[in-house]
Amino acid sequence: MHDEGGDKKRVIPAPLESEPRVHKARRAAPADAIRPTRAEVNLEALRKNLRVVKKHADGAKVWAVLKADAYGHGAPAVARTLERAGADGFCVALLEEGVELREAGIVAPILVMGGYYGGAYAEVLARDMTPVIYDESHLAGFAAAARALKLDKPVDVHVKLDTGMARLGLRAENLESFADKLTNVPELRPSGLMTHLASADALSQEHTREQMVRFDEMTATLEKKGIRPLVRHAANSAALLRAEARLSAVRPGIALFGVSPRAVGNDGDVGAPFDSELAPVMRVRTEVVDVRTVPVGQTVGYGGLFRATRDTRVATVPMGYADGLSRQLSNRGHLLVRGKRAPIIGAVSMDMSMIDVTDIPGVGITDEVMVLGAQEGPQGRDNITADEVASRIGTIAWEVLTSISRRVPRFYREQ
Ligand SMILES: Cc1ncc(COP(=O)(O)O)c(C=O)c1O
Repeated sequence: MHDEGGDKKRVIPAPLESEPRVHKARRAAPADAIRPTRAEVNLEALRKNLRVVKKHADGAKVWAVLKADAYGHGAPAVARTLERAGADGFCVALLEEGVELREAGIVAPILVMGGYYGGAYAEVLARDMTPVIYDESHLAGFAAAARALKLDKPVDVHVKLDTGMARLGLRAENLESFADKLTNVPELRPSGLMTHLASADALSQEHTREQMVRFDEMTATLEKKGIRPLVRHAANSAALLRAEARLSAVRPGIALFGVSPRAVGNDGDVGAPFDSELAPVMRVRTEVVDVRTVPVGQTVGYGGLFRATRDTRVATVPMGYADGLSRQLSNRGHLLVRGKRAPIIGAVSMDMSMIDVTDIPGVGITDEVMVLGAQEGPQGRDNITADEVASRIGTIAWEVLTSISRRVPRFYREQ
């Protein structure tokens, strides 16, 4: 990973036959689409966000975080677009996510951050991915794999340190003994050092700064043992956009998809976005498939959660919780139709949901319905953001985007 982005002609060998095979995920493709429910991914917005991120990175390498199918946007197309647009490398959580990128023809460096390899160590190396290691078992596993593959030079690995996230990573008290073991494994070269920030979007930067002090201290401990990685990285989108922890590389995820983190206070209040130039990349749209009038007093949907207090025009849309429209939006959320907000009424069901269009004249079958994104129509212009949906149901934009399920085909557009 130290020569990030340099050698685009790298040959990717096939994985070993003796190991578990890692398969890429299967998702609905545009050619499978029969329903009008689809996600549209704007590749020009993605490129623009990369430019914004690079400006903030101020010379640090940008390794785009594309885990969870590139935050729901479809990892192969996103990676190909970002690779051509100058991303220096990619980070994934899972080995199989890295395999999917290699099979999509990605030659840029890929860092496997999750650190769970399920015994498929040789596959990581055979596919020329850079493993993140934080556990002694990784040392033996990768050393054996490197020997089996008869690699002619040491394998680059990144070491993960726990500086306050308490999730993965070596802790300070175990660092020296780990370093001794690592220096005795000639097959591995610790070329990178990483940590992950727990509170990069907190109103106070205190926790982040404490973590970075610990990161420096732990780096110094390793240096005393002769371990001097070429790159160190810590910043996620929030840290990057606040000019914290930039070091020699940054790992933005959500910012690339057009959502700017905001400062979150202890009371849960959120401030203004750290960046105002980022543009949303995904729109989710569907169409009205049914319109009916429900008389006053009648209920709508499972459990009769909505009861009409007037004669109500109800439009049905083919998008439900199995597509990623949270059931918590039942009787609470909105969708856009003809450029205007229509309240979701009753329970969101698995494949469908209903909206009240009584106050939106002229709604008919095949009218476009916007689930996420902006819409302009005869009734005006409005926008539903991932942030808005997240705050309505008490979650974060990351979850809203990654919840758009594989049933929803992704269509790629240039604008
Ligand atoms: C280790 C690591 N680095 C970077 C990121 C990117 O974070 P963000 O999407 O907030 O930029 C993540 C995502 O959660 C992560 O787990």
